[in-house]
Amino acid sequence: MAKKFENSINVFAPATVANLACGFDVMGLAIDSPGDEVHVEFNRNKEIRIRKISGDGGKLSLDPQKNTAAVSIQSLIDDLHIDQGFDIYIKKKMPLGSGLGSSAASSVAGVFAANELLGRPYSRRELVPFAMEGERIACGSAHADNVAPSMMGGIVLIRSYSPLDIISLPAPKNLMIVVVHPQVEVLTKDSRAVLPRKIDMSTGIAQWANTAALTAGLYSNDFDLIARSVVDHVAEPFRASLIPHFEDVKSAALFSGALACSISGSGPSIFAFAEGKKAAKEIAYGMQMQFKKNKIKNTAYISSVNTKGVIKLKA
Ligand code: HSE
Repeated sequence: MAKKFENSINVFAPATVANLACGFDVMGLAIDSPGDEVHVEFNRNKEIRIRKISGDGGKLSLDPQKNTAAVSIQSLIDDLHIDQGFDIYIKKKMPLGSGLGSSAASSVAGVFAANELLGRPYSRRELVPFAMEGERIACGSAHADNVAPSMMGGIVLIRSYSPLDIISLPAPKNLMIVVVHPQVEVLTKDSRAVLPRKIDMSTGIAQWANTAALTAGLYSNDFDLIARSVVDHVAEPFRASLIPHFEDVKSAALFSGALACSISGSGPSIFAFAEGKKAAKEIAYGMQMQFKKNKIKNTAYISSVNTKGVIKLKA
């Protein structure tokens, strides 16, 4: 029977925790929720149009040149040398400027959806560079530590950007991620601007030792080693002050039993690693109470590592 091609598709792309403390710009993982739901359909007028965005409080532009999903799809069709048009409808189901990879989720959802409609010319891994173009316009840097895990699922390590070399790492079964998002907005662009251009040798040594050790900990299910390695000498010292009460929330997480705690991506969300669901709930409670005590509204998400990445939803 001939394959029936679809004209439209609904997809869900998950939020992500980038950096994982020691892996600035080179490590990230996907969580189950929140995420973005995106509907994409063919149009006949050869243009990429953003038809509707909901859940963004009116903050995102409908201009396709400023929208990460549209920019990612454009880079895909440029690469294919075709002039197919698409209409895009985006439901933001996650906060913007949160450190949860919001722009990346839209990029991933858009380009994955278009690729499916076109008969899947590229694999998930091959789609990552197109989604990175969305990051470039969102924050001025085409990093892959949000788009790669949102696209492929799991925990990823980006060994090299040129050429792009993405390595999937194993996720210990009992590893839980707690992410607490305080209702303050920190734009990636701004939290990248506070970072130094250069680091000294001793900082580099400490950081790459931890990145390697975390990788070993994930392979060997060694939670003690994971706890010792999830430490950030590069970004956290400079970014912590952008997040109100960061040190108190981190202390609360560790006091409540977290293996480790640091900034999720560029913040302001804060993530903690936990062994098991019960511990994760207690840690989330401890972190939330610290924000609450300081009158900062916040939301907690608890998840194991999402190994699927972006998925097609039922029509
Ligand atoms: N690695 C990036 C950063 C992730 O920390 O700036 C944010 O998108």
